[in-house]
Amino acid sequence: MKKTSDIIWQDKQHQILFQLIDQLGMKDVDAQVFVSLCHYAENHFSLEEEYMAQINYPYAREHIMAHDKFRKELKTMLEQHHEYDEALCQSLSLFLTEWLTRHVFGIDKKLEEFILASKRK
Ligand SMILES: [Fe+2]
Ligand SMILES: [Fe+2]
Repeated sequence: MKKTSDIIWQDKQHQILFQLIDQLGMKDVDAQVFVSLCHYAENHFSLEEEYMAQINYPYAREHIMAHDKFRKELKTMLEQHHEYDEALCQSLSLFLTEWLTRHVFGIDKKLEEFILASKRK
């Protein structure tokens, strides 16, 4: 995966999220992957949201709404994982990768710029 951000923690966490989503699409996926993905995503989202609050980020509302949508999606996945077969896990993994790519290279980039600019002041 190419670099997603010039902010080290943000990039590192995105990379791990992509790895976990990849694992979800692999053979014999373990329920633990769903749990780890939920925890890791939550940890990452709350960190970004903490930053938004601290720097009075003007687009926080829409960004948090996007996170909430993902949170809801993951929660449903976690609750239903026992009914998932391999094909479904693969399509879920694909769906999440596409979603995350759009988020990370879209709305997250705006936040990255704002955080970097606020540090330069
Ligand atoms: Fe992010
Ligand atoms: Fe985000």
